[in-house]
Amino acid sequence: MGPKDAAQPSPIEVMLQMMSGFWVSRGIYVAAKLGIADHLQDGAKTAAEIAEATNTHADSLFRVLRMLAMVGVFEQKNDDKFVLTPLSETLLTDSPVSLRPGAIAEMGEVHYAAWGNIMHSVKTGEIAFDNHFGMDVWEYFETDPEKAQNFNKYMAKSSESISQAIVESYDFSKVQKIIDVGGGLGGMISAVLRANPNLSGILFDAPSVVEKSKEFLAGAGVAERCETIGGNFFESVPSGGDLYTMRWIIHDWDDEKSVTILKNIRQVLPENGKLLLLEAVVPASGEPHFSKFMDLIMLTMTGGRERTAKEYETLLAKAGLKVTNVIPTNSFMSIVESVPA
Ligand SMILES: C[S@@+](CC[C@H](N)C(=O)[O-])C[C@H]1O[C@@H](n2cnc3c(N)ncnc32)[C@H](O)[C@@H]1O
Repeated sequence: MGPKDAAQPSPIEVMLQMMSGFWVSRGIYVAAKLGIADHLQDGAKTAAEIAEATNTHADSLFRVLRMLAMVGVFEQKNDDKFVLTPLSETLLTDSPVSLRPGAIAEMGEVHYAAWGNIMHSVKTGEIAFDNHFGMDVWEYFETDPEKAQNFNKYMAKSSESISQAIVESYDFSKVQKIIDVGGGLGGMISAVLRANPNLSGILFDAPSVVEKSKEFLAGAGVAERCETIGGNFFESVPSGGDLYTMRWIIHDWDDEKSVTILKNIRQVLPENGKLLLLEAVVPASGEPHFSKFMDLIMLTMTGGRERTAKEYETLLAKAGLKVTNVIPTNSFMSIVESVPA
């Protein structure tokens, strides 16, 4: 065995590292939830100082921060003060692409509990989240506006580079009115409207979500060109668009529910209109792709799934839509374009 081999971690070491991945995830959740990065923005602090500001137990917090410093999420100085690193800067509330809402949503109380119940999904095919909480995730968010708002911020804020990749990969110049169905706070539609000043749009989502979207759209400088409509896409979607978009919507639902949503869009889609599904399309072969991780979020959280291009084609056909193009973007996301069949 040469020196290079000696440096390679053994299978046991690699496996132990994978098994303990959630220790780090949970530490990051604690740091994100308590806003530790924000507290370090004006300089180094001891765990005791941060504990006082966050109303937490100093020694326990110290142990979490010490562990996180070991993996580069904070640096521990010789005087036991902690400082920000490039990794913890991603958790700053005000950073343009803050991962703080995402760390709270994914590794905190909501997604984490569903992951904890993943065995239920594997044994029964049922949704781990629903089994744990006794309701589906969208009903749950209606009961907890703070967690809902955090999730919506996560969707809108952590996806800016993806919105950009979508804007750069599709020609929106001939579109008159875009309707983003299930558009959340408006992260994607505002990126499209900003890049296409002649375009106007409608953001459609549950009433409780669109109510909160107005501030986001105003902040993005597109409020005058973007109407907001609240409703339920299982009942109907607004008419009047020549381009309908849905990002991370169809992946949330099983085939039957997806077809109901798609049929509602088909009903209002003009003959020369188009529908874009923005999704992480699973490669048909066994190659690695981020969609295969995201697919387990759907398994545990919503009962949906990530699909291959062929599966999207079949699904869309059931709703009277024909795939015209599957366009890759400079991200793990693709654009599935379809028209009335
Ligand atoms: C995974 S998020 C995607 C948000 C947004 N499209 C984006 O890319 O950031 C799913 C969205 O679907 C919305 N939604 C769920 N059920 C809905 C329904 N029945 N009618 C309308 N919107 C719904 C949620 O409120 C949420 O904003």
